[in-house]
Amino acid sequence: MDLPQRTGITVIPTGAALGADVAGFDLAKPLDAAAFRAIEAAWHGHLVLRFRGQQLDDPGLLAFARRFGDLDRAPVHAVGDTDVDPYPEITVMSNIKVDGKPIGNLGHYEAEWHTDMSYNEKTPIGSLLYALEVPPAGGDTGFSNLYRAFETLPGELKRAIIGKSCKHDSSRTSVGDLRKGFKDVADPREAPGAVHPIVRTHPATRRNALFLGRRRNAYIVGLPLAESEDLLNRLWAHASKPEFAWYQQWKVGDLILWDNRCAMHRRDAFDPASRRLMHRTQIQGDRPFFDPATLAA
Ligand code: SIN
Repeated sequence: MDLPQRTGITVIPTGAALGADVAGFDLAKPLDAAAFRAIEAAWHGHLVLRFRGQQLDDPGLLAFARRFGDLDRAPVHAVGDTDVDPYPEITVMSNIKVDGKPIGNLGHYEAEWHTDMSYNEKTPIGSLLYALEVPPAGGDTGFSNLYRAFETLPGELKRAIIGKSCKHDSSRTSVGDLRKGFKDVADPREAPGAVHPIVRTHPATRRNALFLGRRRNAYIVGLPLAESEDLLNRLWAHASKPEFAWYQQWKVGDLILWDNRCAMHRRDAFDPASRRLMHRTQIQGDRPFFDPATLAA
């Protein structure tokens, strides 16, 4: 009998390039080791997991997230302190204003494709986003399978990027806002941020994925700027194809867990007159790496 059967957990793939629903599991209840292993295996297989109909408070969200590892503190955003007192590991994603002041990040805007905090030396292994209020329409979150994006690259593009690294700009958020304390840069080579391999090996699955971060101000180290721009444009045109994506249409009580090492995400804009409130937390990771031995296997 396999683990999902023994634990009573059912995993239902979306049928798209990534994503699965996990049913039969109440995240507010203690999670035994077998159930956790089943969830982790499903996560590695499907990259994005959705748990519907949950009733989680902040300690419950943090307790589940901590099963995967230590958590990051909320990142620096454009609008100031938007973590949840007394939980600095929770960041609020919201367009809601109280007394004219935003309580969260990203507002109602479209967020471009990105990988969370790829501009840091150590990048989160995954993120969890829990829906407390959702708009009647819009605000869907898209996820893209970067294993598939790498595996289906034309040979000449694969050869052009193996062994190369990319600078990941830390100055702007995924809606294009300048983060607090950062200066605008005109030349991507001057942008602040970490340098990582463009092809990264997942430490658990040993599969290789494209690792692009964000398009804006990205730079492929060592290339003339025009060549870097051309190569990045071709990589992004490929990686953002709809065939690699799945879109989450939110309901209150949905928790989404995604793997930042092999999936990127984006968000649709929504009506600013409606309310959207999400709590997010991120699991700490290590430096991304590429293991050339995986290509010979
Ligand atoms: C994010 O980029 O983490 C936000 C996604 C969302 O608000 O749906």
